[in-house]
Amino acid sequence: YNIAQPETAKLLSYLPGSDEKKQLKERIAQMKSAPIEIPLIINGKEVRTGRTGTCIIPHNHSHVLATYHMAGPKEMEMAIDAALEAKKTWEGTPWDHRLAVFLKAAELIDGPWRSTLNAATMLGQGKSVYESEAEAACELMDFFRFGSYFVKQIIEEQPKAVQGIFNRMEYRPLEGFVLAVTPFNFTAIGGNLPSAPAMSGNTAIWKPASTAIFSNYYVMKLLMEAGLPDGVINFLPGPGSVIGPIAMDHPMLGGIHFTGSTATFNNMWRTVAGNLENYRSYPRIVGETGGKDFLFAHASADVGAVVHAVIAGAFSYQGQKCSATSRVYLPQSIWEDVQKGLIKETKDLKPGNVEDFTNYMGAVIDKASFDNIKSYIDVAEKSPEAQIIIGGGCNDDVGYFVDPTVIVTTNPHFKTMEEEIFGPVVTIYVYADDDFEEALDLCESTSPYALTGAVFARDRLVIADLEKRLTYAAGNFYINDKTTGAYVGLQPFGGSRASGTNEKVGSKHNTSRWMIPRSIKENF
Ligand code: ALA
Repeated sequence: YNIAQPETAKLLSYLPGSDEKKQLKERIAQMKSAPIEIPLIINGKEVRTGRTGTCIIPHNHSHVLATYHMAGPKEMEMAIDAALEAKKTWEGTPWDHRLAVFLKAAELIDGPWRSTLNAATMLGQGKSVYESEAEAACELMDFFRFGSYFVKQIIEEQPKAVQGIFNRMEYRPLEGFVLAVTPFNFTAIGGNLPSAPAMSGNTAIWKPASTAIFSNYYVMKLLMEAGLPDGVINFLPGPGSVIGPIAMDHPMLGGIHFTGSTATFNNMWRTVAGNLENYRSYPRIVGETGGKDFLFAHASADVGAVVHAVIAGAFSYQGQKCSATSRVYLPQSIWEDVQKGLIKETKDLKPGNVEDFTNYMGAVIDKASFDNIKSYIDVAEKSPEAQIIIGGGCNDDVGYFVDPTVIVTTNPHFKTMEEEIFGPVVTIYVYADDDFEEALDLCESTSPYALTGAVFARDRLVIADLEKRLTYAAGNFYINDKTTGAYVGLQPFGGSRASGTNEKVGSKHNTSRWMIPRSIKENF
């Protein structure tokens, strides 16, 4: 259990001329040379349905990377049967042998699979090499290694034996199968959501986001190479409207592991609530959804640190992180300096082709996302309450490019201050220094979400006050740091309110959700 330091904390540099860079370039060229065909994987076997979709490159949308097959009702039934059958053996497999699969997968990422996962994530999801390496390689390794360690920790934590009584805690997987529904924006989340339950002896149906099928398929192949037995994780690309209801209508639905939109998650809760009498057990519903993440600065804040945090928090991976900085509250006294810093630091920041290894930003994921982000920029352009001080440009001729955009508004409830945009757009509200209390109340109450938030101050008493006053406003609360980039095991991740069930991926809290504990007392 190599968890001394999360991998994410020691990123590979991909220095010019390095072997890693050469290998990655070659893998990118190879993946672009001809489209592949992606089947479903049910019970370890490839299944082709003939109903297909395509994976494209966001920064070059005419380039097709793959054709994927889509599951329908028949394949879903097959996959649920396979998962239930495989579980009979998997749950009885000694836990250290189960975990060995995921520890082996981490070793493979650290070796031959690293360039494959990075190339697939850069091409399929439009990530820069740095963003890809941080998650598709490092964070996924961390999920596998730390996740294994958490299982071991939980199992080994046993109640005390007292004289004449032998007490034990036994941990079984959930009864039934787990449905893992995963998002496009992190390959590591794709890999982790079915794997975390599987580590504890569960079996899963994995429905990847349609725009991440390319990289997620390679993660599935990696797990198979690491020794994952047939049927433990079944890979089912396809429409959520087909896959979701079939899984949720099944009496053996044991749990749902979800990351995605609040609207989809709410619909899942409603479906499950309507089926309660049909289930063997109450399904465990673990979900991480949207965010409207804040950065709140006090007059004592370090201006350079604020500028850096806004840019990194709002524009890394084109703002397509549930943790992205999206609304900013700045005091008048530092505003001019922050503005100057933002203009200077974003001068050369243009989205581009991430394959050249130098662009900080790529394209946004697809046409629907591009149109949605553009519609928010249009609202700001037309409103007398807002001014676009940086960016605003959008062009989808070749790829779905949106310039990093900073909006300043005089209305703290302006549309772009309140709604999740999921793109490189950040809105700033400048408050009079004397209105600190009022601004803080706005920050606390403006959004229905509570995922991440950052406060900037050098005054220790102010820091303590901000921490207390914003108790429920963010599940991940950062002091003098950006809102993105939680490390597995160090900053367990997740939020409450409309942001999800806050069961902290990258921690024991999440691991324990995939187990049914049995308390055993024996007199002897
Ligand atoms: N876990 C990701 C982050 O912290 C979403 O940015």
